[in-house]
Parts: sequence; C-alpha cells; structure tokens
Amino acid sequence: MSYPSSRALRRSPDAGTSASSRFVRDEVCIQPATEDGQLSEIQELAHAIWREHYPGIISPEQIEYMLQAGYNLDALRRDLTQEQIRYDRALIDGTLVGFSAYGPDSDAGALMLHKLYVDTAQRGRGCARKLVEATSEYARTHSFDRIVLRVNKGNHIAIAAYERLGFTKRGPIVSDIGGGFCMDDYLMQLDL
Ligand SMILES: CC(C)(COP(=O)(O)OP(=O)(O)OC[C@H]1O[C@@H](n2cnc3c(N)ncnc32)[C@H](O)[C@@H]1OP(=O)(O)O)[C@@H](O)C(=O)NCCC(=O)NCCS
Repeated sequence: MSYPSSRALRRSPDAGTSASSRFVRDEVCIQPATEDGQLSEIQELAHAIWREHYPGIISPEQIEYMLQAGYNLDALRRDLTQEQIRYDRALIDGTLVGFSAYGPDSDAGALMLHKLYVDTAQRGRGCARKLVEATSEYARTHSFDRIVLRVNKGNHIAIAAYERLGFTKRGPIVSDIGGGFCMDDYLMQLDL
C-alpha cells in the first residue's frame, strides 16, 4: 500500500486508551475534495482498503468489478460534477487517512452516505465518527432529516461501527449491479 506517511501515524503502544483515541480524533481535519489530485488519492486509498477488507465478504472478482465501477477517476469526477455527491477527506498532518461520500437520496429528505472508509492503520481512533459528524452537519444545514446508507450484510465490523454511531437497521436490500453480481445489503438509517 502506498501510504508511507500514514505508517508514521500508526497506533502508538498506548493507543486504544480513551485519552490517546481522543488525541488522534482531535488531530483529524475534515476537508472536501475539490480537485483531481485529491480524487486520485481517494482512489488509491479505496483500492488498498477494498482489497484488504472485502475478501471473505464478497468475491475477488466482485471487488475488482466494484472498484472499477465506483472508483475510476471518471466516475469520481462525475460524482462531484454531475451527481451532487460530495467527498470529505479525513486528514492527519495533511495525510489522507479516510474519506466519505454523500449526496441526496432518491427518497426525499434523506441524505445517502455512499462511502465511508478509514485507513487500516488509523481505525478505532475516531476518524469515522468525525466524518459522520461532518456528514450530519452538512445534512442538517441542507434540511435533510436523516442519513441512510447500505452496508453488506457480512460486513460485521462496519455494521457494529454504524450502530455505535447511532444508525439502526431498516431491513434488507438486494440489488443487481450487473456483471453477474449483486449487492446483498442492509439499509441503515440515522435520524437527525
Ligand atoms: C467501518 C470503519 C469506517 C470505521 O472507522 P473507524 O475510524 O475505525 O471508526 P471510529 O474509530 O470513528 O469508531 C466509530 C464508533 O464505532 C465503533 N467501532 C469502530 N470499529 C469497531 C469494531 N471493529 N467493532 C465494534 N465497534 C467498532 C467505535 O467504538 C466507535 O464508537 P464509540 O465512539 O462509541 O466508541 C472502518 O472500520 C473501515 O474503514 N472499515 C472498512 C471499510 C468499510 O467496511 N466501510 C463501510 C462500508 S459500508
């Protein structure tokens, strides 16, 4: 994985205590992605996380199919310029350690959290919470009354984290995504 500078930010021996977790969380800065270079960094981080996290949840073929569909540079640019999807970057000392993507859902009043990813080395230290707080703030100021998301039924770590962040399961949702693949998810919701 090509995030050498994030290695310097790896969990210190005393990380995991609430004090050090809070310290790292306070160091996280959330900024929107606005240009190609930032989208490329997001793409690179997403590829690393997907290939590390999703084996065992979905097939290697589906991982590559979904990366190609959702994280090629044209798709990311289109999200920003045509789909009203906003990307937030979580930065520590200028290094990208996570990101989220969100935009209006077809269901009026709901903001869809499309993506939430944190570098393996930085997990459990409040980065996702900070990204979701930024999403909630955006939702409130743009008059959305809830945040919804889809998460793979087998993605137990993410489901546990979302529940800690206040989301609740609203039921199963299965979609054909082409290429012979489907997404077998739960819909989750956070009321604001
Ligand atoms: C899910 C993910 C984004 C969480 O990121 P994170 O930065 O580690 O999360 P945070 O440290 O902000 O934790 C947020 C809350 O979730 C809880 N949490 C985080 N990881 C958890 C785990 N593995 N098990 C149980 N709870 C967990 C935390 O305790 C925290 O709650 P608290 O503040 O009340 O203690 C991260 O694990 C990830 O990128 N996973 C792989 C990609 C993925 O599955 N993304 C979701 C796609 S739908």
